[in-house]
Amino acid sequence: MTTPTIELKPSSHPLSATERERILAGPGFGRYFTDHMVTIKWTEGRGWHDGELVPYGPLSLDPATNVLHYAQEIFEGLKAYRQPDGSVATFRPDANARRFQASARRLAMPELPVETFIEACDVLVQQDKDWVPAHGGEESLYLRPFMIATEVGLGVKPANEYLFVVIASPAGAYFAGGVKPVSIWLSENRVRAVPGGMGDAKTGGNYAASLLAQAEAAVHGCDQVAYLDAVEHKWVEELGGMNLYFVYGDKIVTPTLTGSLLAGVTRDSLLSVARDLGHEAEEARVSIDQWRTDTENGTLTEVFACGTAAVITPVGTVKSAGGEWTQSNGEPGKVTLKLREALLDIQRGVAEDRHGWMHPL
Ligand code: COI
Repeated sequence: MTTPTIELKPSSHPLSATERERILAGPGFGRYFTDHMVTIKWTEGRGWHDGELVPYGPLSLDPATNVLHYAQEIFEGLKAYRQPDGSVATFRPDANARRFQASARRLAMPELPVETFIEACDVLVQQDKDWVPAHGGEESLYLRPFMIATEVGLGVKPANEYLFVVIASPAGAYFAGGVKPVSIWLSENRVRAVPGGMGDAKTGGNYAASLLAQAEAAVHGCDQVAYLDAVEHKWVEELGGMNLYFVYGDKIVTPTLTGSLLAGVTRDSLLSVARDLGHEAEEARVSIDQWRTDTENGTLTEVFACGTAAVITPVGTVKSAGGEWTQSNGEPGKVTLKLREALLDIQRGVAEDRHGWMHPL
């Protein structure tokens, strides 16, 4: 694998500071984008080449571009945080880079070297560092690296050309309600991913597969959909775009990685953060019956969702065709809030980074 250099071609018309400040005062999620993006090409026989930092703007694609037809696409999500001294650091970019490689392998795409993935993120954040929100709040700069098949043609085969792109978007709370508990619709007949299928790959297709059930969740008045496993329709897997954690008093449990649920970086980090705080933390299979009965008998004290975009979000009401129940009286649980603060403190640079997760720029 070759490591291309990234040539800087900065915009001569970045957004004005006043306009940027107006956006940073209430960015929401995924609505605004910074002034630049990084692009790197891959061509069979040549490898990675033509790395560039260029003004943010549309990609021009032939209508027969492979990705538009057969969805050979993968993506990542990671965040850059303003540190107390005004500098900027990203959180575990190496973990995202490795997962990106795993997704690439599953979709028969070329693997981007870990150091190139990190360098591309660094170059973009460095160039657009004024877009990283102020230290201390909920806001951060969300980075979205992705790769698409760019060969032109309708033959169904792995493409011989690809484009890797990183864009950045200032991000506030993923859910409009902030840390208010989200309601969950339990999808008992629709599945998101199957073991042996695209499973745990972070590819647009797995998210497309989740949208109908997400729309059904909305019809039932719920914010998010939870999926069960595709084989027995019994084991809790994940939400449409987040992993789940179950809190049993002092112990936290997250569904085991079975090959069909996403190996979330936040999910993985929380196993360590919880242990650092003296909690027991384990991966185990959790059935839907267990979720309901353990809530009813009071042993399951809290449930929360986690992901890069959503950080940690408490789960409130759970609805299914067979009935509904509520976690922690619909309030954010205390373990949920403690873990949320502990993780954010590391990311904001106010707690010791004992696992070496922060990547300063
Ligand atoms: C993330 O948390 O970064 C995700 O990828 C979930 C979603 C926004 C697609």
